[in-house]
Amino acid sequence: MNLRDLLIDQLHDLHSAETQLLDALPEMASASTGENLKQAFLDHLEETKHHVARIERALSVLRLTPKGKTCAAMQGLIAEGNEAIDLKSSGAIRDVALVGAARRVEHYEIAAYKAARGIANAVDEQIVGDLLQQTLDEETKSELRLSTLADLEFEAAKDLDTASEAPAKTSVRKLGKKKQK
Ligand SMILES: [Fe+2]
Repeated sequence: MNLRDLLIDQLHDLHSAETQLLDALPEMASASTGENLKQAFLDHLEETKHHVARIERALSVLRLTPKGKTCAAMQGLIAEGNEAIDLKSSGAIRDVALVGAARRVEHYEIAAYKAARGIANAVDEQIVGDLLQQTLDEETKSELRLSTLADLEFEAAKDLDTASEAPAKTSVRKLGKKKQK
């Protein structure tokens, strides 16, 4: 396998990652309580359609079509997203978990696009590199939006924490400790 083969392999992998997200994002949107969070998932769904199209364009530049490889990392991230969806808790706590799951996805995608764009640049595939960069820019913006939303969701969950005693209190403290930006 040479660098160009590796680029092709990563494009197939990214295509799988993005198409898996097309199915997962509507479910994350319907599981969200906060309107802003719901809208962020729906907006990212629309962007993700463009991301899939860009990967297909990148493959066609290399005279290829998606070959149906499965991105195992995205399968795992979506499985964790499903844990957030199924969380037996108040909506505010579930929203905190959903934002966390979505940010894990974004960070994975950002890393994957950076890696693939780096290889595209190294093998002088400029059109492919530019297509990857466009999506990378959108993923980065999306992560920023989620990070702002995370702060809002924490506030909502903390309000709930003060308003009511017990199980929710324990959960939000656990999640709060893991807060990272
Ligand atoms: Fe994407």
